[in-house]
Amino acid sequence: MNNAPQSYWIDSTMSPSFPTLTEDVHVDVAIIGGGIVGISTGYMLSKQGVNVAILEADRILHATTGHTTAKVTSQHGLIYSKIKKQFNMEMAKQYADANETAIREIAVIVQTNDIACDFVHQDAYVYTQQTDNLEKIKEEVEIANELGIKASFVEELPIGIPIKGAVRFENQAQFHPRKFLIPLADKIIANGSKIYEQTRVVRLEEDEHTLLTEQGHKVTADKIIIASHYPCINKPGFYFTRIHTERSYVVAVRTKEKYPGGMYINAEDPTRSLRNQQTEEGELILVGGENHKTGQGEDTRVHYQALVDYAHSHFTVEDIPYRWSTQDCMTLDDLPYVGQFTANSPHLYVATGFGKWGMTNSVASAMVLRDLIIDGKSPWQEVYSPARKTSLQSMGTFISQNANVAKELLAGKMTLPSSNGELQRGEGKVIEYKGKRAGAFLDQQGKLHVVDTTCTHMGCELQWNAAETSWDCPCHGSRFSYTGDVVEGPAVRPLRFHDDVNTVGKLLTEQF
Ligand code: FES
Repeated sequence: MNNAPQSYWIDSTMSPSFPTLTEDVHVDVAIIGGGIVGISTGYMLSKQGVNVAILEADRILHATTGHTTAKVTSQHGLIYSKIKKQFNMEMAKQYADANETAIREIAVIVQTNDIACDFVHQDAYVYTQQTDNLEKIKEEVEIANELGIKASFVEELPIGIPIKGAVRFENQAQFHPRKFLIPLADKIIANGSKIYEQTRVVRLEEDEHTLLTEQGHKVTADKIIIASHYPCINKPGFYFTRIHTERSYVVAVRTKEKYPGGMYINAEDPTRSLRNQQTEEGELILVGGENHKTGQGEDTRVHYQALVDYAHSHFTVEDIPYRWSTQDCMTLDDLPYVGQFTANSPHLYVATGFGKWGMTNSVASAMVLRDLIIDGKSPWQEVYSPARKTSLQSMGTFISQNANVAKELLAGKMTLPSSNGELQRGEGKVIEYKGKRAGAFLDQQGKLHVVDTTCTHMGCELQWNAAETSWDCPCHGSRFSYTGDVVEGPAVRPLRFHDDVNTVGKLLTEQF
């Protein structure tokens, strides 16, 4: 596995190109973020005659949307028993209806627009290999059936992995996310709306109608939707106290065996997820899992290796042409936040926190946002509401997540490396530079890049991510390239770059 991380979804599609915003503009609805939420919502609103501008900090459909497993399913682990326990059956019903409708909506969009995006129906399975979890699986089957989902209990999987039992949802689906969404971006333009790339929003003015871009241009809008994955606006809302981020990994393998169909995920840790994908070069099996909090934990390269080992234990692996990782926003109660940003901001909306189940939840979010903006109400607004009440269990999560942030903030400030040591080409590490903590990376050409490792979001200290060669924040998941550019928010400003240390060769203690 010597190849660098590369997403199959991105590698197999041409990236469309859209201009950078170079003037002040006014639109009906401004959407921050050109991922699946931004593009789906832009498509649905512009179809209704709403004048939309999508503002993407980098390139559309490249971040989480370009690094997903792209399962189109209403089966999100054992979510329905969880919602019933934390809330009630009415809330579970809203969630089921929203996500089942999203599957059908995607199928309709594919058909009516004749989009070739490898959309195929599949059954989806959550399985357990532990007798202790059997009751939970059976309970999920029962609740899902009560909610109108075609669910059943099975004792064997088509894929032959030994299990104690599984819940199967029928008529779910999978697709190629970029092949689905790139044509929708074209439709947005055809509908008279606009997409701007390399247009980072850095501020929301207090009037809550005006956005300021990094290049200093103003976008004014009647309504604003924050669909930037992690909300890039801190106040109001204080979403950074309610969302943490997790990274997870995918390896795409070619195997001797033919895949029998189906999408699979286990109910235990570590997570193992499977689906296939037909490509021009033959079939790929996507093996996913290995989630951990961003910026926390061991050398990230071990996660890819664990998935490779897993693939070898179940298949005759002939090649591993792709591997990639992604980042997801996790909420306190595992349900997304979609709707009005706060109770006091009637013109500001948000969609975030899909907890690794972003395909159907994004399209459901687009429908919720379209209905809230055009009709003032949605049949699913309660379950998605960012203002829904916090259960006791969620309160416990709130306390432990924020304690974790405080710990990371303090721990990072108090530790300096005992010695800088040597740095090999392609290696990054935390060093002491002029008495302060800094991050050094020696690239393959021998050029040294040193950045201030203080996160520009709220000041936590960044950790090196060896698998993706990035600086990752353990507090709210911002990520930066080794040159200091923002890779993922909520941070919107780059790291301070120490340009006085462009030393060629090995980094030795005495150089500092
Ligand atoms: Fe919040 Fe880094 S992402 S401090």
